[in-house]
Amino acid sequence: MDYEKIKPLFFRLDPEYAHHLVTGALQIAEAIPQLLNRWVCKNFVDDEMLHQEIFGRTFLNPVGLAAGFDKDAQLVRSMTAMGFGFTEVGTVTPRPQPGNPAPRLWRHIEEESLQNAMGFNNRGSLYMERRLKSRYYPYVTPIGVNIGKNKTTPESDALIDYEHGIRVFRDLCDYLVINISSPNTPGLRDLQNEEFISALFDMAKKLTRKPILLKIAPDMQKEQAVALCTKAVEAGADGIVATNTSIDYSLVKAPEEVGGISGKVIRQKSFELFDAVASELFGKTVLISVGGIDSGYEAYRRIRAGASLVQVFTGLIYKGPELAGTINRTLIKLLKKDGFSHISEAVGVDRR
Ligand SMILES: Cc1cc2nc3c(=O)[nH]c(=O)nc-3n(C[C@H](O)[C@H](O)[C@H](O)COP(=O)(O)O)c2cc1C
Repeated sequence: MDYEKIKPLFFRLDPEYAHHLVTGALQIAEAIPQLLNRWVCKNFVDDEMLHQEIFGRTFLNPVGLAAGFDKDAQLVRSMTAMGFGFTEVGTVTPRPQPGNPAPRLWRHIEEESLQNAMGFNNRGSLYMERRLKSRYYPYVTPIGVNIGKNKTTPESDALIDYEHGIRVFRDLCDYLVINISSPNTPGLRDLQNEEFISALFDMAKKLTRKPILLKIAPDMQKEQAVALCTKAVEAGADGIVATNTSIDYSLVKAPEEVGGISGKVIRQKSFELFDAVASELFGKTVLISVGGIDSGYEAYRRIRAGASLVQVFTGLIYKGPELAGTINRTLIKLLKKDGFSHISEAVGVDRR
């Protein structure tokens, strides 16, 4: 399939409608094992050079699907068939919720970026629990569950929603991510403070030994982000996912005044925040870099800066379904060119 040819047709459709069309087709594909197998052969790069043991699992390659694309855990098999080494599902909230009114997803085509104000539309934890139990977990590619709070839950009760998420999913995934960095749930980013983080991880660590990571926003001051992530790791966090979408609307020419921006225009901002966090925490915790990654070169830059794993979302929309395979093949080329025999030799090499 030549994605560049069908992209203009897709881009004539409303972005959310196009997303439903694609995910609907992928769900049908999930029921056709022969088709998925063909895709696996085409897209999945399984090279020893890229294998890593993380969180007690083998990650066959370091390129994952970022949270928000598969909000209800419906696409894990098809994402593996598209070449992803792991999938982060969610954000899932305790109760189902519709999210914000549409329109709530926009393309900034020239800037290869998206803007979304989805607001954690999802079918809730019971639905996802059933999906993971009946279809996916455990799976050949690791699964992360990204958990959030319901819009109607007051900030003062946020801990209760996160506790619910941890209890439900602790035995149904390979790692959990605490999302307090989405701009689309009022007040959520206010939870990015040291007091809440300490209370959260104190609670979480009593509930499970499953790895729990913290996902942060790219708009924090570097010192603030480093302090927050350091606090999280001291309180028991097993990793950091940096970053979520940005509310810096000056990044695009014709912004909407709501939601978060992702894709090419947040690349540098996202890298710089990741780099700041890695300067303090590389070697002390697992680091996942996300934000504007759409090529093997950018993925390699993040890996060299300290990322064991990377994730993509917006790049998939602009570069198409072969992106994960392309990134992995480029990574192997770049590792060899620089004389590395295994990805682990390159992780954080620019820090050492
Ligand atoms: C439409 C859309 C929905 C998203 N939903 C979520 C979400 O539910 N939870 C979350 O943690 N991040 C969510 N994200 C953020 C992505 O996971 C990612 O952190 C961000 O888009 C930056 O990566 P990118 O530039 O590769 O898209 C969403 C992003 C987009 C574009």
